[in-house]
Amino acid sequence: VPDTPVVDLDHRDESGEYLRYHAARDEQRPEYDRHRADVRDLTGAVAGSSLLEVGCGTGAHLPHFWNSVGPHGRVVAADSSEKMLDLARARLQTAQVPLFDDEPGVELVHGRLESLGIEGVFDVVLADRLIGHLEDPVAGLQHLAALARAGGRVVVINMLNAATTVSLGSEVSDRALAARVLAWRVERGTTSSWASSVVPSLAKRAGLEAVGAKCWTFTCRTLAETFPHTPLLSYGDHAFADGALSASEAAQWRERLEALDAAGEFAVTVTVRGDVLQRPTAG
Ligand SMILES: C[S@@+](CC[C@H](N)C(=O)[O-])C[C@H]1O[C@@H](n2cnc3c(N)ncnc32)[C@H](O)[C@@H]1O
Repeated sequence: VPDTPVVDLDHRDESGEYLRYHAARDEQRPEYDRHRADVRDLTGAVAGSSLLEVGCGTGAHLPHFWNSVGPHGRVVAADSSEKMLDLARARLQTAQVPLFDDEPGVELVHGRLESLGIEGVFDVVLADRLIGHLEDPVAGLQHLAALARAGGRVVVINMLNAATTVSLGSEVSDRALAARVLAWRVERGTTSSWASSVVPSLAKRAGLEAVGAKCWTFTCRTLAETFPHTPLLSYGDHAFADGALSASEAAQWRERLEALDAAGEFAVTVTVRGDVLQRPTAG
């Protein structure tokens, strides 16, 4: 039985390793800077905007939001994990962003999306890789919509897992094996494996209008860099345990990935999808 649980991109594991990884990666990877700038563009936040991020995690967006909205704006960030909020607080302090406790500043709120008790007054509500964690993504989108003002924007960011590419080599058997493992992952993974591809239809059911979408990619060039977002190595073992691969195929998956990594030829490309949704104006 594989010892690594099947987890999907951005799972909710709060182990120290996961948190450390989250806290460090933005500083380590210029590609993440571009990724985050794309997310912020989609929010459309400008001076004076009010913005709520639900599932803010370690708060990597928050200093930028604070700078964008300025002294007449408002930034609130909520997360269900106190450990994540501690990291977000530390990040803000390091960046010398004021916290709301003392003066006008970023407000950090401990709570779940489903019961935040925050008024629906925000120009923008952002959920960056949150809805994949939710058992009912439509209800989640309804909760997000309720937090925005009438006519306000809800921005939903997710990994488009069906578009992930990983190369095991140029042989037909390598390509076929990679395709099978990645397809297995989308089919058998958690909500975040599939939800991103159907956000517009989920949004419609939640009473939101889809007004725009954008996709972009980033590439991890070492296996270590993919941890823990895409524990690719374990997928073969899980697919075997699930009856989707033979034992020798599972072994081939692991061996090929490790060999490519050792040779400096490993690459996984992840696609991100951002959907811009709008809460209808009243009446
Ligand atoms: C992948 S992290 C998002 C990180 C952050 N948005 C960023 O861009 O770095 C997902 C976050 O959602 C939080 N979360 C999961 N379910 C939640 C819920 N129902 N309500 C609020 N936060 C939740 C988790 O604690 C975690 O910090």
